Amino acid sequence: MGAKRCDDLRLTGSGGSNRVMEAEFKRLVMRSPFQVRVEKPLREGDATLLYPFDARIAWVAACYHRTSSRISWDLCSSEAVRLEPLYADLLPALSADDRLPGGKHLRFSVEVGASTDFEAGPLQLRGVVKNAIVEALTPRGVTAEIEADSPDVVFVARRAGPAEARRTVVGIDIGGGARHRRGARVAMGPAPLRETMAAQLIILSRWDARTEPLVDPMAGGGTIPIEAAGLAAGAAIRKPPDLAFGHLAAFKDMPRDVPDLFPGTVPRILSLDVDPARIPAMVGNLRAAGLTGPSHEDSIVIAEQDVCALTPEYIERMLPAARGMKPGVFCFNPPYGVRMGALDDKKLLALYSDMGRVLARFKGWRAACFVANPQFIEVFGHAPIMTKPATNAELRGNFLVYQF
Ligand SMILES: C[S@@+](CC[C@H](N)C(=O)[O-])C[C@H]1O[C@@H](n2cnc3c(N)ncnc32)[C@H](O)[C@@H]1O
Repeated sequence: MGAKRCDDLRLTGSGGSNRVMEAEFKRLVMRSPFQVRVEKPLREGDATLLYPFDARIAWVAACYHRTSSRISWDLCSSEAVRLEPLYADLLPALSADDRLPGGKHLRFSVEVGASTDFEAGPLQLRGVVKNAIVEALTPRGVTAEIEADSPDVVFVARRAGPAEARRTVVGIDIGGGARHRRGARVAMGPAPLRETMAAQLIILSRWDARTEPLVDPMAGGGTIPIEAAGLAAGAAIRKPPDLAFGHLAAFKDMPRDVPDLFPGTVPRILSLDVDPARIPAMVGNLRAAGLTGPSHEDSIVIAEQDVCALTPEYIERMLPAARGMKPGVFCFNPPYGVRMGALDDKKLLALYSDMGRVLARFKGWRAACFVANPQFIEVFGHAPIMTKPATNAELRGNFLVYQF
């Protein structure tokens, strides 16, 4: 047996996100400060991409990639499914690994990912990985200790690989933890869309920020408009000083600054909701994301509006800067009826049907939504040009794209 050295950049997303994650990453790397091309990744299942590790592309992924949920650097893997053989495999592999963090003192934690086919509980698995790391670092003069709250470096242990060749993989989280946490949202609505899902939705809509306006007619806390603005500018979601880079020699020559990758793109975004109580939350979230103030004034517009009364004239009036642009894109996630207790079923179906009627007035526009209500497609009354199953915070649904 023995552990095998790996050297992969692992991007993990929500179910079915492989293609979108890959397309986004390719585009970002092309605009990055480095003369580097991404190779075709290996796909593990439908929600994991593996790239040969290169600090430059890892830097781009960690700082800018919006559709992945976690990003890690795989260091080694073992066939072991029990604790003792795993320790016996990991210790020599980690001891000989010059990619581990250096310094005199290291505060670290170990997170355990998917591990149901490991023959011990996650806490025991974590304990063994932790012991192997401490033992591997001690002879180098590094005192390593567990620090759960603000670790310098987070290691990750998980079972991964194709069903017939599953392995226990140990790596380092380089993406700053759960990436749907952008660190900006100050107020959550009753049914927020995860940021990673919002980014996927916008990419699936094929929005071109330079030529098309984007309208979220039911924006709640503004997640979709905020992600849209970030995607348009190629804005970073993580800064190198907040990541493990400072402790890893591989990243020592990487830039500390994270400029926009698409500078100069001024998107035209309209963020609407019928509920006046949502507006302050939307404004607060936009402000926290740095998207308010004079430079954004006619780029992102917020208003209280019922989607059922939406007209092309209204959009032109509210978003005058979009005049002369091509037909635009609606991106939204409507109430599902699951978490929105206030709306009864009949009202909800009437809303879907009204929306189908109203949005069809927008000739040449596309609409992309994430919907977790199986009746939506029928009641909305149009045939989607794309349907893609997806899950938002345990709620199963579909990404749907329409062309009007
Ligand atoms: C599922 S939430 C959207 C969540 C949002 N994407 C976010 O991440 O915060 C649905 C939103 O639709 C809004 N809504 C319901 N009926 C509407 C209508 N007739 N017109 C406009 N917005 C409406 C609700 O107020 C709610 O904020």
